[in-house]
Amino acid sequence: MAHLLGIDVGTSGTKVVLMAENGQIKASAYAEYPLAQPRSGWAEQDPEQWWQATVTGIKQVLAESGFDGARVVGVGLSGQMHGAVLLDENFKVIRPAILWCDQRTGAECDRITSEIGVEKLYEWTGNPALPGFTAPKLLWLRQHEPDGYAQIRHVLLPKDYIRYCLTGELATDVSDASGTLLFDVAKRCWSREMLTALDIDDAWLPKVYESADVSGYITVKAAEGTTLAAGTPVVGGAGDQAAGAVGAGIVQGGVLSAALGTSGVVFASTDQPQIKSGSGLHAFCHAVPGKWHLMGVMLSAAASLQWFRNSFAVSDSYETLTELAAGIEPGSEGLLFLPYLMGERTPYPDPDARGAFIGLNIRHKKDHLVRAILEGVAYGLRDSLELIKELGVEAAEIRVSGGGAKSVLWQQILASVFKIPVTVVNSSEGPAYGAALLAGVGVGIYPTVEEACQRTINVESRREPIVHEVELYNRLYGLYQALYPMLKGTMHDLTAIANGSTR
Ligand code: XUL
Repeated sequence: MAHLLGIDVGTSGTKVVLMAENGQIKASAYAEYPLAQPRSGWAEQDPEQWWQATVTGIKQVLAESGFDGARVVGVGLSGQMHGAVLLDENFKVIRPAILWCDQRTGAECDRITSEIGVEKLYEWTGNPALPGFTAPKLLWLRQHEPDGYAQIRHVLLPKDYIRYCLTGELATDVSDASGTLLFDVAKRCWSREMLTALDIDDAWLPKVYESADVSGYITVKAAEGTTLAAGTPVVGGAGDQAAGAVGAGIVQGGVLSAALGTSGVVFASTDQPQIKSGSGLHAFCHAVPGKWHLMGVMLSAAASLQWFRNSFAVSDSYETLTELAAGIEPGSEGLLFLPYLMGERTPYPDPDARGAFIGLNIRHKKDHLVRAILEGVAYGLRDSLELIKELGVEAAEIRVSGGGAKSVLWQQILASVFKIPVTVVNSSEGPAYGAALLAGVGVGIYPTVEEACQRTINVESRREPIVHEVELYNRLYGLYQALYPMLKGTMHDLTAIANGSTR
């Protein structure tokens, strides 16, 4: 039986899976690396750490499974989206990559929007200018680090740096390119208009492939380091959200997904580019040829729980924390949590939004705070779901994935907050699994991405909304929705103070 590798270059670490063509995972490895936050709102990583983690992960899955690396027939890549990896004329990394969750480019986004105009931005790219996206990062560098900017010859996305290390090719795929703000999502090619308007050299940008097309082959040097065979095909792959959606079988209408990773994403596959200015959603190319997707992104989903644990409950496991939360009634005894710890994207594209607990009373203890976090993240995701439904997309089932989805309590909260059945599928390896399936299509094991999903992905559990919870959560969701508009000014003032403003 043929075997495939899927690699996902995440924010906390890189995951590598070895998958048999019947969809069975033979081995999975995860190698972590740190996230540098040199200033409030900044987020950077050294691409070399991604490469070291990839090599470690590949070696680990091969050692664990006893499988000969030379027999792997195809490799698929996935990764955190939007990050700017900058290479000089010698293909050397110029500075640490600026990541998707970095919020330093608010002013550049405002400038792009006012100079180009919202309508033209949507016409050319299908999306608004948001601080996480790649293009505003380039403008920030032009202004703040002109020496580094002058050295740029190539701009890559995170997983595409790994492709470069594996194959020597400078390439990306349509789904990841969609998040650069330099890509014409409707036409699936770089936007000449955007590049001209922002005065960005098109020679910096890599060649774009459909996600399941072969983009290059393992080099002799990479073969030595990884024990894969030189000449093994590497497919275009996809941004982690599109790859994760493939890995959960979200490749046609009706079934949506909600990913509870560091970020939280509600994702719907669409047959047309659903470009609608001002919707607060992202409209990107899907990893399926001829398909697009809609997605709402909250920046701190499982990251909110991780923040709480690391800051206040470091000796508790996530299981212990969610068990404590399960002992509290729905509604957390009148406590609401706003999950805007790193600013927000959907529905509020606001880098200066901040988190809050509202409704604290003297009876509240750690258990309530944890439950309020799980519920607050669910309300934030419902914001995205409502926007997707407003565009006429049918939502009959939501498949949850990501670290947070391991919690049965969180699954139930989501079902009752969304008012839609929540399911979990057999593949829990997320984007890395999707990347392996895309590799399988690229090397001809599966005829199409849809067929690859059909052969390998099954629903394993299902949670229905609970009627009395639905009513209560509906009411609390209304209160939650009212809070950001009320508190926005205060959040901005507090952010300015945190950033050292003396005004
Ligand atoms: C998607 C996004 C995040 C990162 C996280 O637009 O910014 O989901 O891809 O890995």
